[in-house]
Amino acid sequence: MGKAYLMIIVLLSVEGVFGAEADPPKTIESAEGDSVKLETCVTKIQEGDEVEWKFGPHVIATIKANNVLLYDTDDALFKDKLHLDDQTGDLTIRNTRTKHSGLYEVKIVNITHTEHKRFSVTLLDAIPKKVSVTEGESAVLKHDVADVEIYDMIMWMFEDGETSIAQINKKTSKTPSYDGIDEKFRDRLQLDQTGTLTITNTKSTDAGLYKLEVTGQNKAVKYRKFRVTVSESGLSTGVIVAICVGAAALILLVLGAGIWCRNRGKGVL
Ligand SMILES: *[C@@H]1O[C@H](CO)[C@@H](O)[C@H](O)[C@H]1NC(C)=O
Repeated sequence: MGKAYLMIIVLLSVEGVFGAEADPPKTIESAEGDSVKLETCVTKIQEGDEVEWKFGPHVIATIKANNVLLYDTDDALFKDKLHLDDQTGDLTIRNTRTKHSGLYEVKIVNITHTEHKRFSVTLLDAIPKKVSVTEGESAVLKHDVADVEIYDMIMWMFEDGETSIAQINKKTSKTPSYDGIDEKFRDRLQLDQTGTLTITNTKSTDAGLYKLEVTGQNKAVKYRKFRVTVSESGLSTGVIVAICVGAAALILLVLGAGIWCRNRGKGVL
């Protein structure tokens, strides 16, 4: 019994010593949409050196005999997003999404050494900004993307929709277009040149997640999110006052009529 425990402890310690990776992964945190550059820190790849990049178990890029080859996962996770520098072996992932978060590993093999480097990449989802309105009011979704004028395309989406509900494509026109798949927002959206979206005359069905995507040539895509809540109008103070005034008027009217009747009965009028 005691021996068995000792054995396990010894095995665990051995595992701990020899199973440990040389270096902990370098941690990289960035916002969804940004480009992420993973650096090998090699000054120059020599002819005959081999570089292999992996994302989890998948080989995604290699340099062999000075030839750069890019691969992808079965679900095309990295389609048009990878750039591998053939001089340094640095890997750049462009226009990232949260699903590109994970462990990246590079193996660099030269005539004398094999070197491993690991990168733990986290791409942060944009945190939704809260906008609360009462039914009937306008909801103004004002983003904080800097220099929005340098981007070509401003696009707003609702919930998990893949199509935009409002957009400006400056390459074709400065005029916004509203092309929601349903009639939900009919004539109630206003998109200005700065990308601020206003939903007028809000309804309870407008509540949900709105996503802004700003794109431009050779620029990282910017994402912003807004969580809109629409509370029922209920009875506003104005309505309550109006009802009270109405009720009071009615009472006065009834009383007045009573007095009038009584007085007429007495032959006063
Ligand atoms: C091989 O790589 C190691 C680092 O991994 C470096 O110090 C060494 O100079 C390289 N050798 C050649 C011949 O490039």
